[in-house]
Amino acid sequence: METVLNVDKLQAYYGESIILKDINLKVQEGHIVCLLGRNGVGKSTFLKSIMGLVRTPSGSILFQNKELINKPTYFRARAGIGYVPQGRDIFPQMTVEENLQLGLEVNNGNGNISPEIYELFPILKEMLTRKGGNLSGGQQQQLAIARALVAHPKLLLLDEPTEGIQPSIIQDIGRVILQLKKEGYTILIVEQYLEFILNIADEYYVMDKGNIVAQGLVSSMDQEDIKSKIAI
Ligand SMILES: Nc1ncnc2c1ncn2[C@@H]1O[C@H](COP(=O)(O)OP(=O)(O)O)[C@@H](O)[C@H]1O
Ligand SMILES: [Mg+2]
Repeated sequence: METVLNVDKLQAYYGESIILKDINLKVQEGHIVCLLGRNGVGKSTFLKSIMGLVRTPSGSILFQNKELINKPTYFRARAGIGYVPQGRDIFPQMTVEENLQLGLEVNNGNGNISPEIYELFPILKEMLTRKGGNLSGGQQQQLAIARALVAHPKLLLLDEPTEGIQPSIIQDIGRVILQLKKEGYTILIVEQYLEFILNIADEYYVMDKGNIVAQGLVSSMDQEDIKSKIAI
């Protein structure tokens, strides 16, 4: 099986402060990998590093066996990495449909929004003409994921998709992720909500203070131990 993402000895900085010290992490094709960890340990910084949004002076980020470390963000997006940032980042003044169309920009605006998007997120179909900012938090999260999927990414990065979202929509998002897995998608998901990922992810990594401190198969996870490592 192909290794879609292979991160080796990665360091990341904000200014002079080192945030990621020595990160090694792999994602195999068709797998769902979860990155767990407390607030402030560097999880979002890691996803931003993969997208080229923070300074990464050393280490390697191989995506489909090609080195990304010095490539600009647009190159990484065009190469096939879809990114849903923490806090969602949809455009509140644009309609749902316009937000979705932005997802096509990765391919220079070519292509169409495939009907499957609306099968995965039926609520968006009902809301195409509404402004993004008028959607609930959970609906905005669904829109953000849908927007990333419009371009059929080879790797999808999700940063805390359950944060601040009501339980019924968390379930919907869980179902969508499982459906995507069935279709062969490869997903790296950052979470603090352990129960959410137990039925979803194949492998897990735990980050603490810019290092990976545990990793393994979710099926053989010592849940109490991992909980203690990510508890606040
Ligand atoms: N833009 C930034 N400038 C400087 N420091 C930042 C910035 N964003 C995050 N940090 C710091 O980097 C560390 C890791 O943050 P982050 O990656 O957001 O953690 P997590 O996603 O695990 O909660 C924290 O100490 C945070 O304060
Ligand atoms: Mg974060």
